[in-house]
Amino acid sequence: MEVIIKPDIDAASNEAARIFAAQLKRKPTSVLGLATGATPLGLYHILTTMYARSEIDFSLVTTFNLDEYVSLSASHPQSYASYMRENLFAKINVALENIHIPDGTARDIPAICTAYEETIDRAGGIDLQLLGLGSDCHIGFNEPGSSLTSRTRIKSLNEQTVKDNERYFEGAGPIPRHVITMGIGTIMEARHCLIIASGQHKARAVAAMVEGPVTADAPASMLQMHQHCTLIIDEPAAAQLKRLDYYRWVYENKPAWQKV
Ligand code: PGA
Repeated sequence: MEVIIKPDIDAASNEAARIFAAQLKRKPTSVLGLATGATPLGLYHILTTMYARSEIDFSLVTTFNLDEYVSLSASHPQSYASYMRENLFAKINVALENIHIPDGTARDIPAICTAYEETIDRAGGIDLQLLGLGSDCHIGFNEPGSSLTSRTRIKSLNEQTVKDNERYFEGAGPIPRHVITMGIGTIMEARHCLIIASGQHKARAVAAMVEGPVTADAPASMLQMHQHCTLIIDEPAAAQLKRLDYYRWVYENKPAWQKV
C-alpha cells in the first residue's frame, strides 16, 4: 500500500483529485467506484471545479457507488443517491444511464445485489475505486467481522457506525440500521483503490489498516493484499503509524516514471 501523508484534508483532496484527473485522461471511458461521507466532499468539490473549467470530462465515464441505506428512496434527502446528486452528479456531465447506486427500496435485495455485481462485470470492472475509512475500520459498509471475500449484499450496521451517522439524520427520520454494500471481495477486484482518511478520530483505524494484521476484525486491513492501493491521509490521521518516516521517504523518492 502506498501511503501519502499530507498536512490537511485540503491537500489530501487535491492529491486525490490529481489521481482522478490522471485516470480520466488516461482512460476517458473509466469505470469509477465512488464513496459518500464527509471525507470525499473536498475531492468532489475540486472535481466539479475542474469540470467547470473544462479540465476533465465525465461524458464517457461509468460510476458505481459503494453502498446505500436500505429503505431510503433515491429522493430521500439522506440517501446516498441524493448525496451523490448534490455533491457531484448534478455538477458534471456524467450520463444518467451510466450512474449505478444500489436500490435501497428494492423488494428482492439479494437479486439486486447479484445484478449489481453482474453490471460491474459487464462494465469491465472498476478502474479506480474511491474509499472512505470508518472509525471502526470499515470500508464500504463492511463492518468488523465481515467476510474478507464478501460480495455485494445487505449488512446490518454496528452501533458505532449508526452513532457516527446520526449527525446527518437530525429531523429526517430514523437512521436505517441496514445497508446494501459492495463486499470486500468486490472492492478487492478494483484495479486501483484510493482511500482517503482525515482527522485524529481515524488514526487508530489507519494504523490497524496499514500496520495491523490482516483480519476481518479490521476490514480495511484486507487492502494490504491489494495489488494497487493508494492511501492519502492528513497528519492527524497518520498520528499512530509506526513507519511514518519510511512512508514519507518512499513518497519523496518515488521514481519519476511512477508518478501519476
Ligand atoms: P466519513 O465516513 O468520510 O464520513 O468519515 C467514512 C466511512 O464511514 O466510510
